[in-house]
Amino acid sequence: MRTFVVVSHTAPLEGDFSLSDLPGGAGRIDILCRCATEAFLLSHGIRKDVRLIFAIRDQLIITLEGAWLRHLNPDERSTAALLRKAISRGAGLGPGEVARSTSGITVRAGGLNDVIAELGEAGRQPYLLEEEGLLLRRAELTPGAAFVLSDHRDFEPEERALLDTCPRLSVGPRSLHGHQCITLVHSELDLREAGWTDG
Ligand SMILES: C[S@@+](CC[C@H](N)C(=O)[O-])C[C@H]1O[C@@H](n2cnc3c(N)ncnc32)[C@H](O)[C@@H]1O
Repeated sequence: MRTFVVVSHTAPLEGDFSLSDLPGGAGRIDILCRCATEAFLLSHGIRKDVRLIFAIRDQLIITLEGAWLRHLNPDERSTAALLRKAISRGAGLGPGEVARSTSGITVRAGGLNDVIAELGEAGRQPYLLEEEGLLLRRAELTPGAAFVLSDHRDFEPEERALLDTCPRLSVGPRSLHGHQCITLVHSELDLREAGWTDG
């Protein structure tokens, strides 16, 4: 199972946004849509062994599970509609309550601290993706690794503190968009799994 955690600082907490203005009125939810596309979609199929977690504004956690995910298409608008439904479903949830939105998508109240704590309890190592980290190509990863990245904004100091002990990994020397990092992580892990690596 590959896990990606995307921290969103600006996505909406209410599902009343327009699908016609994803980068504006919808608080850059287009970024999350692209992350979902890259996390799950193959040319003709879906990666079933992937979990994608959006931690939105430290208040809402949306989890997408490849094994059960349905209705995910390559266009941003229909993905945004899935997320909008999940955000609406999450409104008013109390602590510990989990609601199913559409197939493979659940929502609950919580923040990055909950996600990191749960990864720890499950024995899964979170790796922080950042430009200055150890080159992923050279890194030995623990099984069931989770990769944490930010949206268009830098991590907040409190988020950095939570991630302070996580090993840092870089996918290359240039600062990339989050969805591009997900593609590169998948590529590297695909190559390793297929034995297409040097030495
Ligand atoms: C668009 S970047 C964040 C914006 C950037 N911090 C800024 O304000 O210019 C989104 C995220 O992708 C990840 N990222 C970008 N380039 C990376 C790289 N070369 N290696 C690893 N992670 C990277 C980081 O987690 C980053 O927070």
